[in-house]
Amino acid sequence: MEKIERKWWKEASVYQIYPRSFMDSNGDGIGDLRGIIDKLDYLKDLGVDVVWISPFYDSPLDDNGYDISNYKAIHKDLGTMEDMEELIRGLHKRDMKLLIDLVVNHTSDEHPWFIESKKGKDNPYSDYYIWKDRKNNWESVFSGSAWEYCKERNQYYLHVFSKKQADLNWENKKVREEVYDIMNFWIGKGCDGFRMDVINLISKRFRDDNYKGEEYFFNGPRVHEYLKEMHERVLKGRNLMTVGECPGANIEDGLKFSGFNEGELNMIFTFQHMDVDSKNGKWDFKDFSLVELKKILSSWQEGLHGKAWNSLYLNNHDQPRMVSRFGNDSKYWKESAKMLAHVIHTMEGTPYIYQGEELGMTNLKMDIPGDLRDVESINAYNDLISRGVFTKDHMDEAIARKARDNARTPIQWDDSENAGFTKGSPWMKVNPNYKLINAKAEKEDGDSILNFYKKLLKARKEIPTLIYGKFKEYFKDDKNLYVFERKLADTKVISINSFSSKDLGFNIGEFLYEIGEDTSKYEILHTNMKREGFKDIYELKPYECLSLVKLNED
Ligand code: GLC
Ligand code: CA
Repeated sequence: MEKIERKWWKEASVYQIYPRSFMDSNGDGIGDLRGIIDKLDYLKDLGVDVVWISPFYDSPLDDNGYDISNYKAIHKDLGTMEDMEELIRGLHKRDMKLLIDLVVNHTSDEHPWFIESKKGKDNPYSDYYIWKDRKNNWESVFSGSAWEYCKERNQYYLHVFSKKQADLNWENKKVREEVYDIMNFWIGKGCDGFRMDVINLISKRFRDDNYKGEEYFFNGPRVHEYLKEMHERVLKGRNLMTVGECPGANIEDGLKFSGFNEGELNMIFTFQHMDVDSKNGKWDFKDFSLVELKKILSSWQEGLHGKAWNSLYLNNHDQPRMVSRFGNDSKYWKESAKMLAHVIHTMEGTPYIYQGEELGMTNLKMDIPGDLRDVESINAYNDLISRGVFTKDHMDEAIARKARDNARTPIQWDDSENAGFTKGSPWMKVNPNYKLINAKAEKEDGDSILNFYKKLLKARKEIPTLIYGKFKEYFKDDKNLYVFERKLADTKVISINSFSSKDLGFNIGEFLYEIGEDTSKYEILHTNMKREGFKDIYELKPYECLSLVKLNED
């Protein structure tokens, strides 16, 4: 039998909080730490083990906190260090852990290091950032040149993201020491791990000639050396959890970053499956094909098994809502939201639930550009239309489909004004569908998406096959169905998922017979329909999902 190395972070489920939109405790319209404290029982009841909180540090908020000006201070909108300490105690008391966002590819241009650095070439912070006499043609992820001129130094600094997010110079050992110091500070406060923002961008490949930039930001020559050093210096022996956000990383890269014997990270977030509805870049959208999505998800399942660990996600604060993107947010809203959750929670890896996903929250019907809050969308909208790259109509649709703001609307707690998120005026528009979609209503409804998530999470605690079982896919070329099994010793889980809005002929008993399984040994684990047994299923309903389990006889 295959040897399994049990780890708490492999068996955990993670819940991501985008703090400004989670819960406002004091009526200023902005979610805050006390709001999170008030909802800890909700999270415990959902059944998650780890809470990841997006940046809550001091920041001028150019990128909603992913532009940090003080790593050891709490943003005043969100609360105080005492609130943070209370939050950590509250989590630990409930046997939950805290994952924090480590954003150290760049700092805010208002960070004291940058303020010093830009003063001249001979102060202690001069080499903390990436300064060049000449700029090359690298483009910022958030539109325009990735270089900004600074007249004090008569040089340019690099900003892969907005010009208020200056890239740190990791080649400078002092910078790396500062990062370890920040990590130790938070470990000292009781934090249990790190989600590392764009961590595969920390080493760059510079060139002066003209070429397209992106591939020179990603997975640079020294990235593994830096991560190994970080592991050695900070993480080793501490039983923390680490997940690295790695845009542009393929399976081979994944094996290096998260390989069990590499001494770097526990797991990474790949983006390959998030690109299935893009042609040439994010705003050049297309409809996704299930065959392509399956191919990517399955290849990561197969490629990492036994060697490294997957993270499982279909949305986060940078992605549109999964039910609007891969499911059907109108007629089959409930069915498709459950089905997508079922796919993720029957795979191998650590699942990440993004706040509101467990309620089936949907994209926002935005007034564009009026409702936009996000620097990425605002810049892209202005830049791409003014340069004639896309028409206004195209960009209106692209934003509606892809904008990050879709995921950043306030959490819908109940059907009172502003969805119970705030007693004041919310910093960002509340999705008007909160009367129908909200936590209070779903808590009371046994058949709700919320209650389905609870079952999914509970099953992962009870059935080790769901955590460690080996993945095998069936019907790879099927355009509507995603079917796979998970096998551990002689136990098995079979996961069947329809992505179709029509009935699909599928004889489950016959399928089991064909793959050599004895139907009498199986029972239903999860279903999003009202199914009593599976032997007389000849047809799957729209967006139906079903998993069958065979447990050890003894
Ligand atoms: C990551 C974050 C995103 C942020 C960017 C720059 O991709 O998830 O929200 O804008 O890094 O920090
Ligand atoms: Ca508040």
